[in-house]
Amino acid sequence: MAQEDVFKKLVAHCKEYGYVFPSSEIYDGLSAVYDYGQYGVELKNNIKKYWWDSMVLLNENIVGLDSAIFMHPTIWKASGHVDAFNDPLIDNKDSKKRYRADVLIEEHLAKFEDKINKEIEKAREKFGAAFDEKKFRETNPRVLANQAKMDELNARFSKAMNATDLAELRQIIIDHEIVCPVSGTRNWTEVRQFNLMFATEMGSTAEGANKIYLRPETAQGIFVNFLNVQKTGRMKIPFGIAQIGKAFRNEIVARQFIFRMREFEQMEMQFFVQPGSELDWFRHWKEVRMKWHQALGFGAENYRFHDHTKLAHYANAATDIEYKFPFGFKEVEGIHSRTDFDLKQHQQYSGKKMQYFDPEKGESYVPFVIETSIGVDRMFLQVISAAYQEEELKKEDGSTDTRVVMRLPSFLAPVKLAVMPLIKKDGLPELAENIVKDLKFEFNCQYDDKDSIGRRYRRQDAIGTPYCITIDHQTIEDNTVTIRYRDSMEQERVQTKQLKDIIAGKVNISSLLKKL
Ligand code: GAP
Repeated sequence: MAQEDVFKKLVAHCKEYGYVFPSSEIYDGLSAVYDYGQYGVELKNNIKKYWWDSMVLLNENIVGLDSAIFMHPTIWKASGHVDAFNDPLIDNKDSKKRYRADVLIEEHLAKFEDKINKEIEKAREKFGAAFDEKKFRETNPRVLANQAKMDELNARFSKAMNATDLAELRQIIIDHEIVCPVSGTRNWTEVRQFNLMFATEMGSTAEGANKIYLRPETAQGIFVNFLNVQKTGRMKIPFGIAQIGKAFRNEIVARQFIFRMREFEQMEMQFFVQPGSELDWFRHWKEVRMKWHQALGFGAENYRFHDHTKLAHYANAATDIEYKFPFGFKEVEGIHSRTDFDLKQHQQYSGKKMQYFDPEKGESYVPFVIETSIGVDRMFLQVISAAYQEEELKKEDGSTDTRVVMRLPSFLAPVKLAVMPLIKKDGLPELAENIVKDLKFEFNCQYDDKDSIGRRYRRQDAIGTPYCITIDHQTIEDNTVTIRYRDSMEQERVQTKQLKDIIAGKVNISSLLKKL
């Protein structure tokens, strides 16, 4: 099945099974805003717990924070967001559709990469085990020609972006004959800057009201509280502050479901270090964060770093962790060495010292900062893209059947176990309810007695429930139940009293954290 179709099915599945709903759906929705349903909110909370515990529980020198969404408007002047948090916007005059000029060019660049990958795959099939990809890349004329075109465009694009040369961005689109995907024409407007911040007013009267912004990142709440936390927590450098919270961006183009939203959530950690040590810490956090992703078991080959060649003016190193989504490798997390830019800007704009007194060095300085920044929603999309599978099953009579299964890591699964009486009589429902009553203090359990047992298993597979417990007549005789495993579909008979330990061993977050 084409990856595009897989993605469409995943979006439909999320709605059908209570993971994600379009916001304000009965009013035809609100573009790029989504609500999380009964299972979505559980998965989201579990993702946040995995991140929070890996930062705050595992590191004695990292503490949490929950700063307000509304902040003093000068913060956004100091951070540079008022003047420079812009995307280059271009309209197609025929379709009246709006695009990000840089994204149109990036998508064009990706086409060269696709062509190269297709050549490689063809050659791999032809030559089998003897295929030498490195040699092929260095010698195949078609690969070399596409690589050269890609490098040339990349260099021109980076130069235009670095210089914020909007006319050149437009010229690249014209020269490369990039067309509007809707109208198919090249009838483009000029490129202009578009600020992504949402503004509102605070105050009771129009005259007395102040223009304030919905925060476009959570990081600034950490910067402005840096000394509060350092002093009250008696933190010594190096130390970190972690925060999870909502962020808002008026994205020009919001596509691909929850990948790019106008209201989303971030998990950010700012790590304050001695000036001069930042690039060592940058490498450290790159490694730690990649390990965090890969510990979920979705396959190391599906992740890669994308080191930035174009650096923001405040950064001296930056990389993205990308995941292979159904629509290609895309950023899930950013790791940035932000120098002392933000703290120095706040020092200048607030007139308050943002310095740390280093008792070991006997001097004060403005620390440098390494930031790890990941979107909760984007991580959610990464997890469900990896977990969603349509499987063909062979039945005993030789015919085939299909099942949709969410192979979520047990710790992340919204429901840990479903408890099912085989039939709705002979005291079996009461036994099942007693098991739920006992286990609900430990795990998110669901009682299910509707439909045939096979349909109930399918329903739980589609939700991603890792364990189904079935109560039958044998349970009355010997107090045993069957536990059915989602991934292997195997069943095992166990003592009821063993259930708590068996399941705890499998769904406990500590086993995941110990891998880090
Ligand atoms: N404080 C740094 C910062 O905000 P960013 O690269 O703009 O950096 C960090 O964003 C992460 O936030 C991204 O890697 C992505 O996971 C998430 N993110 C950014 N914009 C988003 C959007 N419009 N919708 C969903 N997630 C977004």
